[in-house]
Amino acid sequence: MMSTCLTALIVLLSSLQLVVSKNADTPLLPLALPLRGGATPNPSHPAPKDLDWSTFGFSLNNLKTPYMYLDQLSGSSSHATFDGSGGGSGSLKSGWHNKNNPPKARTLITKHKPLSLEPSSTILNYGQGLFEGIKAFRRPSNEIVIFRPQKNAERCRRGCARILIPPIPDATFVEACKEVVRYNAEYVPPTGKGALYLRPIVFGSAPKLGVAPSDEYTFCVWCSPVGNYFKTDSNATQTTLLSSVSPITLLVSRSYTRSCVGGVGGVKAVGNYAPVFKCQSETKAQGFNEALFVDAKEGQWIEEAGASNFFIYIPHPNKPGGTLVTPPLNNGTILAGVTRDSILTLARAELPDVTVEERPINLSELSSASEAFCCGTGASITPVGDIHVPSVTEEGEETKFIFYNGDRKAGEVTEKLYKMLHDIMWGEDKRLEKKYADWITVVPPLPK
Ligand code: PLP
Ligand code: COI
Repeated sequence: MMSTCLTALIVLLSSLQLVVSKNADTPLLPLALPLRGGATPNPSHPAPKDLDWSTFGFSLNNLKTPYMYLDQLSGSSSHATFDGSGGGSGSLKSGWHNKNNPPKARTLITKHKPLSLEPSSTILNYGQGLFEGIKAFRRPSNEIVIFRPQKNAERCRRGCARILIPPIPDATFVEACKEVVRYNAEYVPPTGKGALYLRPIVFGSAPKLGVAPSDEYTFCVWCSPVGNYFKTDSNATQTTLLSSVSPITLLVSRSYTRSCVGGVGGVKAVGNYAPVFKCQSETKAQGFNEALFVDAKEGQWIEEAGASNFFIYIPHPNKPGGTLVTPPLNNGTILAGVTRDSILTLARAELPDVTVEERPINLSELSSASEAFCCGTGASITPVGDIHVPSVTEEGEETKFIFYNGDRKAGEVTEKLYKMLHDIMWGEDKRLEKKYADWITVVPPLPK
């Protein structure tokens, strides 16, 4: 009798297949039902939408994905702990979650919509906000994975501590990203045609006049499918090797700096980006792809290229191998890129002929480098073809450093790093996949 009633209930729920959320904007959530015999269903992600993915660039590509994640925390920011172990304990709207208040990410998924803000909110007036950039990939098996969201969660937490935003616990941040990908799975491009780019944003959303932190915060994760950051050969997909990416040209910025010691260059504060627009536009007007920023004090030490980290490779003069160098993070002026960290780890562990150094790079050292590249979530690994260094004086001459031999292709070490990184993302090298399994967060499909 009991089992007949249970079966009837399951049949009823199966036919409904929906649970209505208490949040009116939240989509109707499919319910996962156990199969007969206790086995769980094994659904798979929907196929990518029928779009011309090969035309996608690093832009919104004229579309909006259907869902986003939206949470708010109100109450005094002084309630928050800044080590990421807890959220605010003020009066929560839904609030950041912590160990005692486990993630309810699903219930915070809402239809993509504009956010409404008081003109006096601290984000609009004082720039109290941070953003992150993360990619989700579709593997050939149709599995969908996110690359190292835990690292972005940690970086966001450090950024929150710097500009006094109650930190989002890492687990909450990662769960939010996973749910956004699950709900927008149709917008994860086919393997090799790009990625679903996630933008977690967190900012002060309460009205305030005094120059002080907000009393209310908004955490939203929106997303957009993207192609390459820089242009590639027209027929190339991202699974082809890096040789399909044209090396870019960089111009050292003499008039503008991105960050200084004691500032916020080391965190992903929204206010770091608009000040770069003018420099970027002038750099492009002169025919270069990106600006290369040097230190604010001496103007001699390389920091970052546009919104990406920078590496050079210096071959040993009389034996195989060489040294891979990137500027260090200790001044707090350079963003601790997740891609940068991945490259350093891979080079140290997988390229025995390569010595890895995190140390200052003087502009004069570019002459001994045979390869240079930029890296970031958006930029992936982008080879640099040449770097132009204007003179510091008006009469002086510009110096030009070239990093390719005739055919404008990425160098060998750059290519190897690119391949390893993408093999891990796309699950195309079993050994690497196993060794770096903790870099990959698998997104479970929504129940059908
Ligand atoms: N530097 C800046 C200023 C950036 O905005 C980014 C992008 O996030 C990076 C470097 C690269 O960081 P990641 O590899 O985490 O994307
Ligand atoms: C990224 O690479 O994810 C970034 O956030 C850099 C840029 C697109 C702003």
